[in-house]
Amino acid sequence: ASYEAGEHESFMRKEILEQPTTAQAVLRGRLDERFGTAHLGGLDMDARDLRAVRRVKILGCGSAYYVGQMGAALIEELARIPADAEAASEFRYRDPVIEPDTLYVAVSQSGETIDTLLAVQEVRRKGGRCVGLVNVVGSAIARECDGGIYLHAGPEVAVASTKALTNMFLGFALLALQLGRTRDLSIADGKRLVAGLERLPGQIEEVLAGEADLVEVARELAEARSLFFIGRVRGFPVAREGAQKFKEISYRHAEAYQTSELKHGPLALIDPEVPTVALVPRDELTERNIGALHEIDARQGPLVVITHEEVDLGEVRARRIVVPRNEPELDPILLTIPLQLLAYHAAQHLGHDIDKPRNLAKSVTVE
Ligand code: AGP
Repeated sequence: ASYEAGEHESFMRKEILEQPTTAQAVLRGRLDERFGTAHLGGLDMDARDLRAVRRVKILGCGSAYYVGQMGAALIEELARIPADAEAASEFRYRDPVIEPDTLYVAVSQSGETIDTLLAVQEVRRKGGRCVGLVNVVGSAIARECDGGIYLHAGPEVAVASTKALTNMFLGFALLALQLGRTRDLSIADGKRLVAGLERLPGQIEEVLAGEADLVEVARELAEARSLFFIGRVRGFPVAREGAQKFKEISYRHAEAYQTSELKHGPLALIDPEVPTVALVPRDELTERNIGALHEIDARQGPLVVITHEEVDLGEVRARRIVVPRNEPELDPILLTIPLQLLAYHAAQHLGHDIDKPRNLAKSVTVE
């Protein structure tokens, strides 16, 4: 069947709204409620292989790299395996050391991104094991990997990726859960996360139902020439992805920063003309995050805060966007959804070609 935007004004909006359904597709048949784990047959790794992993290195480009950072945090938290993400476009140029007990994970919607493909080849040429988190079945990266997790997001047409990224995050959650349960992650924690994952599609739907409230905020942000996206720890890759989406389709300069680094430089740029979108989930860093908001507010920097109902911003002047809570490890994805909508409505307000932003291709297949 052909894939059309139909009654939607763009593929991007259609793909944003599809997420409750596509999120279910990546989880389907992979969650085990009884043992609080995930089953990922396509990885082609048995319990012994999984236990032998000492380090995880995630490779992807652009937004796939940022979701890779979210994935690395999840794996390190749940499986207690050191994990990080690196831009696949840089990887092979530094003649990387490939270790036999490291699990390399290539992440790509199209499966055709040349930089990611060449990174996979670099790993395999040096004898490493590389698995793929790929959306397009039978694509070059999927074929080149030792095994993997298909993302089942369906065709994605808009250059700005949305539903595929959500499924990348969920794919990492499944991988983290399975790696965790072959190690120290307790069955109680495993079950807590399985239940959290099962709740997510419905909660994504809740965030999407609040779309109308975001339109005016997005229009205000669209008027700024330059803006910041800030977050900490789990929230920082979310900020990076939010800034990326905003840049791609609104053509505004958007820069992501760790909230904690603000005082080490970028605070100099804060004034009434430079808005900040801040991620402030209810977690162990909430109070510190609010401290940073005070610094911004004191310089009359306009603030949009993506947060949870329980978070009290006190005196801080801000536009508040509330998302539902899940298990804290899974919160990043719910924080990401409003950022997709902000970017979308800002670009819509500016009259840009949302599905085909200038200078960009859906997948970059030449070096
Ligand atoms: C996403 O909005 C971007 N257009 C871009 O960063 C993209 O994620 C990147 O080029 C990687 O593409 P891939 O997932 O197809 O490999």
